[in-house]
Amino acid sequence: MGKISTKSIQSQLILYFTIAILVPVIVISIIASKFIYNEITNRAESKSISDLNSAGEIYNHRISQIESITRLTAGRSFIISSLIENKADTLYKELHTILQNEKLDIFTIVDKNGKVICRGRNSFNSGDYITSDKFIKRVLETKSTVSGTDIVSPDELKKEAFELADRAYMEVKPTLMSRERSEKFEKNGMMMKSASPLFDKNKNIVGVLMSGVLLNRNYDIVDKINNVVHENEVYKGQDIGTVTIFEYDVRIATNVKNEDGSYAVSTLVSEEVYDEVILAGQKWIGDAFVVNSWYVSAYKPIRDINDRVIGILYVGILKQPFNDLLLNTILIFSSIAIVTGIIIFFVAVMFAKKISAPLRKLEEWAKQIADGTYKSNIAIKAPREIESLSLSLNLMAKQLEQEKFELENWAETLENKVNQRTEELKRINDQLFRSEKLASIGKLAAGVAHEINNPLTGVLTNSSLMLEDLEENDPRREDLQVVVNETIRCREIVKRLLDFARQTKPQKKMTDLNALIENIILLVRNQSAFRNIIIKKVLDTSIPQIMVDADQIQQVFINFILNASEAMPNGGQLVVNTSLNHARDYIEIKFSDSGCGISEKDKRRIFDPFFTTKQQGTGLGLSISHGIIERHGGKIILDSELGKGTCFTIFMPVNYNSDIDD
Ligand SMILES: Nc1ncnc2c1ncn2[C@@H]1O[C@H](COP(=O)(O)OP(=O)(O)O)[C@@H](O)[C@H]1O
Ligand SMILES: [Mg+2]
Repeated sequence: MGKISTKSIQSQLILYFTIAILVPVIVISIIASKFIYNEITNRAESKSISDLNSAGEIYNHRISQIESITRLTAGRSFIISSLIENKADTLYKELHTILQNEKLDIFTIVDKNGKVICRGRNSFNSGDYITSDKFIKRVLETKSTVSGTDIVSPDELKKEAFELADRAYMEVKPTLMSRERSEKFEKNGMMMKSASPLFDKNKNIVGVLMSGVLLNRNYDIVDKINNVVHENEVYKGQDIGTVTIFEYDVRIATNVKNEDGSYAVSTLVSEEVYDEVILAGQKWIGDAFVVNSWYVSAYKPIRDINDRVIGILYVGILKQPFNDLLLNTILIFSSIAIVTGIIIFFVAVMFAKKISAPLRKLEEWAKQIADGTYKSNIAIKAPREIESLSLSLNLMAKQLEQEKFELENWAETLENKVNQRTEELKRINDQLFRSEKLASIGKLAAGVAHEINNPLTGVLTNSSLMLEDLEENDPRREDLQVVVNETIRCREIVKRLLDFARQTKPQKKMTDLNALIENIILLVRNQSAFRNIIIKKVLDTSIPQIMVDADQIQQVFINFILNASEAMPNGGQLVVNTSLNHARDYIEIKFSDSGCGISEKDKRRIFDPFFTTKQQGTGLGLSISHGIIERHGGKIILDSELGKGTCFTIFMPVNYNSDIDD
């Protein structure tokens, strides 16, 4: 027997079931999460790109707004005539009003040589030359309007207003990822500017009108961008979108706030973005950690009118909502996986029970079959294979039972046969034993008889002579007669012994057994011993003559008849019967008497030499008869019941070739 596995079919089914379904669920969840993550990231990035574009639009829109104001104002004849007539006061009043209304930081008129005629912001400062200004130079050259972003030196700003220089002035604060910066202060300002030419009636250029909005610490534009792009959306108390304008790498305007609530200006951009946007002039999209949160960020360069990169426009969307979305998705997926797992587990348990319960029943049943306590068919409700297994088991059990039954029968017959054989063997053994005993006793008796014969002859001769010599009336005569008679008896016994011992070959001749029996009966009938005995002959006249030693057979018959008479001292009936068996190969000779019968104990010994129950018996009659019949190839069978009678049956073969046998 192999070792029995400790794992039950139930637990294994559950395990494999769960693995088989949970693994794909987990894999699918991972793939789906990954896919969703990518999708969300892509969407976040493309949104930040489009936001950046919108921001750029709004930025440019503000510039074109400034441009239209400038262009419109520069086209007014009132302004041109005031310039020609050098009415600085009138100009100031007009420009200042527009500056204030349009939230401009500068609104300045210069003549065609670059000499400042009027500053709309500052009426006290004029007459200086600003020929170095790129915009004014370009307008004088091209005689058309120029707009864009520009870097303005602190000196220029101061000429307009100290306050502007102040706003532009920044102490640069490094951040974790920013590059090393040699300048610790940024004093330049960054401005949206527009400049338009002023023409007289003859279309001759007489001056330039230049307007500008300082971007440093200007929260209007970033708020506006944020408002339009992100609609001021708030996520968990935090602005969802951020907008920042950089002057070079310094934050100069932003809606990102520090933890203390102040605007996070004057900090530096990361080195990575600096390299990509300022140095390489490229866009940069990616995740960036700004102040205290992660943002999906997009940066693009701001260029001056000579196409030099002078700053960065930045738009960022808070990463948190995307992360939360991702987290939620993963949560949903994993809870689906868990719920599926649990459902599968229970389904597997149920399924496994459905399989293992009938299996257990079958097991119990098979045990019963093995123990032999199995009773009847069992019916099992189970999946097809198990049901057919139970059918097969049923069949097997039945066959087993049948075989067991046959085996038992067979064992019984075998036992009977063995018993029969044993009995037969015992009988043969007994016969052998008796034959051997007869042979040895015969030899012994022959010796003894020989020795006794001569003295007996002497005794008989002498006693006979003595008897003859005695007078007729001599009283000793009677005693002597006893001596003579007894001696004759002794000689007779000795003769018989010698006959027995000699075991002469039968002198065979064709003999009619019926005639033999008739003769014997004639002989004995008148003897005194048969006085009260009725002798019945039932002789089958159809029996054939057979080759036998008639003298010996006669001796045998006489033996049986004498024994019968001795068994019936008070009379009775003797039936002598001859017949032929069906196969006509044996003659049966039966001697049945109604005498005393033979006890079971004696039955075994009556054929033994010298076994006798009679006072005067020799115990040789039957043993000699047995020897004679055996030598004729026949056999004797005894049937007797104590107190009822005895029947000896002799079987004589019809054709017996004694020459071969002897
Ligand atoms: N017909 C019979 N009825 C009863 N007993 C018998 C019969 N024939 C033989 N016997 C028994 O068998 C014994 C042996 O017989 P046998 O050999 O002829 O010797 P004997 O006649 O000298 O005793 C007898 O002593 C007797 O007990
Ligand atoms: Mg006898």
